[in-house]
Amino acid sequence: MVEVAIAEPGELAAAQLEAAESLVRAAFGPSFRSHDWLHALDGVHVVLTAGDALLAFGAVVPRTLRHNGRALDTGYVEAVAVRADQQGSGLGAVVMDHAENVIRARHEVGALNAVESATGFYARRGWTPWTGHTQAAGPAGVIDTYADADRIYLLCPQPLDPGAALVCDWRPGDLW
Ligand SMILES: CC(C)(COP(=O)(O)OP(=O)(O)OC[C@H]1O[C@@H](n2cnc3c(N)ncnc32)[C@H](O)[C@@H]1OP(=O)(O)O)[C@@H](O)C(=O)NCCC(=O)NCCS
Repeated sequence: MVEVAIAEPGELAAAQLEAAESLVRAAFGPSFRSHDWLHALDGVHVVLTAGDALLAFGAVVPRTLRHNGRALDTGYVEAVAVRADQQGSGLGAVVMDHAENVIRARHEVGALNAVESATGFYARRGWTPWTGHTQAAGPAGVIDTYADADRIYLLCPQPLDPGAALVCDWRPGDLW
């Protein structure tokens, strides 16, 4: 039987985090870098297990996105992954059901940067692609973030204005 745990930041033991990192790295493949895992650490963790086995994982990390003069309290989804032999059996949807509950309860909007092969997974859940300009607020001011690989998806109660930039906060590694 699959069990779902919602772990607050810092609650998972080191061994649980190691198991999660291994699962996520295996699911994403070699393009997954150290910073990508660090980006998932400070969040609320959704952990699916069966007995001692970790089956699926995801994180909702607090970030601030700025848009049209507003600072949006954002639940940023990172490191969503299902163990390879369990994919396609509904576990990814369970991870996202819980991640979205966290976003709706604690944040104004949800955001994530989808890998190309997973865009359909998020789109069918009601996440919408951001078609406007993206920027990041860095130590030296606001910079444009033109990355072909970025596919930003949003979960918003009200649509944002694609005519105004969406500005993320700064972090090491990939900004989005
Ligand atoms: C993407 C991933 C998390 C999906 O998890 P999953 O357990 O395989 O997906 P589910 O079985 O819960 O699928 C839920 C629904 O989404 C659909 N779906 C699943 N993966 C999809 C994809 N890549 N594209 C489009 N639709 C997809 C399923 O058909 C299903 O539809 P249904 O509700 O009509 O039956 C999983 O395949 C995975 O870990 N991939 C590797 C890592 C990755 O890409 N993570 C996302 C990074 S942004």
